[in-house]
Amino acid sequence: MPVPPLTDRVALVSGSGRGIGREIALKLAAAGASVVVNDLDADVAEQTAADITAAGGAATSCAGSVTDAEFADRFVRTAVDTYGGLHIIVNNAGYTWDNVIQKMSDQQWDDILDVHLKAPFRILRAAQPVISAAVKAERAQGSPRTTRKVVNISSIAGTAGNVGQANYSSAKAGITGLTKGLAKEWGRYDVTVNCVAFGLIRTRLTEAAAGGDASIDVAGRQIKVGVNPDLLAQMEKSIPLGRAGTPAEAAGAVYLFCLPESDYVSGQVLVCGGGFHG
Ligand SMILES: NC(=O)c1ccc[n+]([C@@H]2O[C@H](COP(=O)([O-])OP(=O)(O)OC[C@H]3O[C@@H](n4cnc5c(N)ncnc54)[C@H](O)[C@@H]3O)[C@@H](O)[C@H]2O)c1
Repeated sequence: MPVPPLTDRVALVSGSGRGIGREIALKLAAAGASVVVNDLDADVAEQTAADITAAGGAATSCAGSVTDAEFADRFVRTAVDTYGGLHIIVNNAGYTWDNVIQKMSDQQWDDILDVHLKAPFRILRAAQPVISAAVKAERAQGSPRTTRKVVNISSIAGTAGNVGQANYSSAKAGITGLTKGLAKEWGRYDVTVNCVAFGLIRTRLTEAAAGGDASIDVAGRQIKVGVNPDLLAQMEKSIPLGRAGTPAEAAGAVYLFCLPESDYVSGQVLVCGGGFHG
């Protein structure tokens, strides 16, 4: 029996209670990684972890908002305390809170920048001492080189811009900058830092909402998400593959950057959009 490619790897996946993050967690676990599942909503985080465990994998839940000041340390510590290391970090958690710029509040701007850009920054900052110490110890022991992996999640709204998403486009463009900067800073630790920018993927963020009035609860605030069915159909027509992607397909693109086959690829932004680039 071949050894699964991510055996002995420990992964953090933020926002993995639902949608794309959940599929990433399931995929990494199926490939042998131990996964720390996170979500704002504890019930869905626990469900993902339970589903992984039921399938014979290893997972634990670390619920909470990635925007809480204490969260990053707790997330990293959960990986180290539970599984004894840290090899893969996927910064996926987030949501959209759209409006045209003249109607966008400071809160709308700040909250979206916080969740999509500041939270990944804090998680990566908290991971640095753990990664640096592990690499130092591995080198001192003469262990074979271990390439660690960071995959940040962007959007074609970040690479190409999108109407009504000045906050989200800015945050998702920012995460590509963080990716490229850290790819240079962390090469010395054998860490690759890459980014996947999704096009239209069918999740609750984009699911056709009758009348376009679906909303999600973020810390007690109801935020409108979902795309009007007519607009969704129109958007799908402009995608060369002719349809929106599935969460599992989106997870596949992230998985590529977690595999040993991508160990010499760093600082890249991969668009996963069915051929649509925005
Ligand atoms: N669906 C798309 O078309 C699309 C396109 C481009 C980029 N993205 C990005 O992909 C990522 C995943 O989105 P999705 O489509 O799977 O959405 P989703 O709503 O299905 O899943 C996102 C998960 O993140 C969690 N989350 C939100 N804020 C959080 C916080 N502060 N702390 C912890 N967890 C939090 C949510 O509870 C949810 O379970 C996001 O970064 C999103 O911006 C999605």
